[in-house]
Amino acid sequence: MRLEGKTAFISGAARGLGAEMARLLHSHGANVMVTDILEEEGEKLVSAHDNMRFMRHDVLDEAQWAAAMQATQEAFGGLDILVNNAGIAHDASLTEETTLEQWRKVIGIDLDAVFLGCKHAIGLMKKSGGSIINISSIYGIVGSAGQTPYHAAKGGVRLLTKGLAVELAQLQYGIRVNSIHPGFVVTDMVRQGLKQAVDGGLMPGENEAIEMLTMQTPLGRLGAPRDIANAVLFLASDESSWMTGSEVVVDGGYTAQ
Ligand SMILES: NC(=O)c1ccc[n+]([C@@H]2O[C@H](COP(=O)([O-])OP(=O)(O)OC[C@H]3O[C@@H](n4cnc5c(N)ncnc54)[C@H](O)[C@@H]3O)[C@@H](O)[C@H]2O)c1
Repeated sequence: MRLEGKTAFISGAARGLGAEMARLLHSHGANVMVTDILEEEGEKLVSAHDNMRFMRHDVLDEAQWAAAMQATQEAFGGLDILVNNAGIAHDASLTEETTLEQWRKVIGIDLDAVFLGCKHAIGLMKKSGGSIINISSIYGIVGSAGQTPYHAAKGGVRLLTKGLAVELAQLQYGIRVNSIHPGFVVTDMVRQGLKQAVDGGLMPGENEAIEMLTMQTPLGRLGAPRDIANAVLFLASDESSWMTGSEVVVDGGYTAQ
């Protein structure tokens, strides 16, 4: 029960890594506001848990951020933890073929929305402090072919996090801000990304791609959603009270070599 009495808000948490974060934080005593554009999956997840609510929320829409924060305040009386988790991958188009519209879509969801989430959480958190956790990626640290907008957005999240961490520390709001950089975890997003990379000739077959990524991972396996959720739990809890502006890499050693 490392989060007894705390309230967490997790964007894009109807499925995948976000849903696992919601389950784990809830199991440690947190009230959890799950938001996503996937209503059916979101409602199904929260129906199995007390003190877990779902709200339809498009992270691109600033007015919906304000409404979602207000709903959290009304439901649970405050906010202690924000996880900016919603995200999409680029469709693996090469940069010379990527349209400005495709670029802006990825930058919008993966970077602009993280700014909006932070902006709207600060007001609720600054009286009693809190923890903001931004889900970046190892692709916010290293590059790959066919994902330039994703790299730009996730790299942006890495430094947005550090800038905000310093700013909020100077303001003495008691709000810590850290980023998590997951390696490969086979979720719907990754499955779709691998398929597009295979279709575009950037990778061999999907199974071969997974095998290749596994072989390139020093710990010899790809990640499980719980591996990432455990890092979120640590950054959400008071055990990380001397951490702000940090980048926590959880990737089985993939980027250590
Ligand atoms: N799975 C991985 O290997 C991996 C690696 C590094 C980083 N990440 C990051 O982890 C986060 C979660 O990804 P995942 O792998 O669970 O993928 P996922 O596709 O299963 O989950 C992403 C969620 O974000 C939601 N979402 C997308 N656009 C949205 C919008 N406009 N408004 C609200 N919600 C929206 C989706 O509906 C979905 O539920 C993402 O930020 C992703 O970039 C994942």
